Amino acid sequence: MSSDTTIKTEILIHDLKVPISVIDAGAKSLLNRQDTYGPLTEKQVKVIKRIIRNALTTQRLVNDVLELGRSREGVMITRDFNICSLVMSVLIEIFDLADPAVVDLIRKIQSYDALCRVVNDYGVKLAFDAKVWKTVVHLDEAKVRQILRNLVTNAFKYKAVFVEISGSIENKLLTMCVRDDGRGIPPSEHQKIFKTYFTTGSSLDNAIKSHGLGLAGVMVLLKDMGGEMTLNSNCGKGAEFIVKIPL
Ligand SMILES: Nc1ncnc2c1ncn2[C@@H]1O[C@H](COP(=O)(O)OP(=O)(O)OP(=O)(O)O)[C@@H](O)[C@H]1O
Ligand SMILES: [Mg+2]
Repeated sequence: MSSDTTIKTEILIHDLKVPISVIDAGAKSLLNRQDTYGPLTEKQVKVIKRIIRNALTTQRLVNDVLELGRSREGVMITRDFNICSLVMSVLIEIFDLADPAVVDLIRKIQSYDALCRVVNDYGVKLAFDAKVWKTVVHLDEAKVRQILRNLVTNAFKYKAVFVEISGSIENKLLTMCVRDDGRGIPPSEHQKIFKTYFTTGSSLDNAIKSHGLGLAGVMVLLKDMGGEMTLNSNCGKGAEFIVKIPL
């Protein structure tokens, strides 16, 4: 993309901030000013809270895209965050679409073991070392979240029964692995899937249109952070994406 096109795209995304804020403010008014707008049932409150949560997620996505522009200019925004909050926020984003009732359960959970039990019932296996789960890392959180979100979204899209997310830290390297048991990817496509706009997803079988941008974006983000990704997969054998990011 020429830099002119890039800036134009970024300005369009930038301008999404206003309508998203309007959605957020409108939903909050309904929730917080029931004296003016009328009383809500418990079910309506749940739906409105889901709208507010997703307005926030969208705001964060818009910020992430604009941060990408900054990172193209060489700006990295690193901060301390723990692996646990990273994985939880990705799970909440994904379940908010797939099964919002699970989000209410996840948000109440205190321990790693309890979280494993709950999400296991919904096809997610977590395999983190207890120490890694609590580890605080210093990285560009928006980029790491974007990488994990994209890999988990794909795994959810293509899984048969389960998705496994695991993580470890060794020799100053954060390794995260996202695995599913779906149709897999033939070796002839292992290079192609990382190219921009290559997709086998159709808009018909999914609520969300596939653009073939996810993995290409993940590769750009990883390059920024000096990381790398490997893919293990074959037809009918599921897919495993392993990401390594230097700390
Ligand atoms: N876990 C997976 N199992 C099987 N195929 C996969 C998996 N992940 C990715 N692919 C293949 O790689 C292609 C590219 O993935 P990518 O995330 O870049 O795009 P997409 O998911 O099709 O669309 P978008 O991410 O833009 O919504 C997919 O269309 C699919 O064919
Ligand atoms: Mg994708």
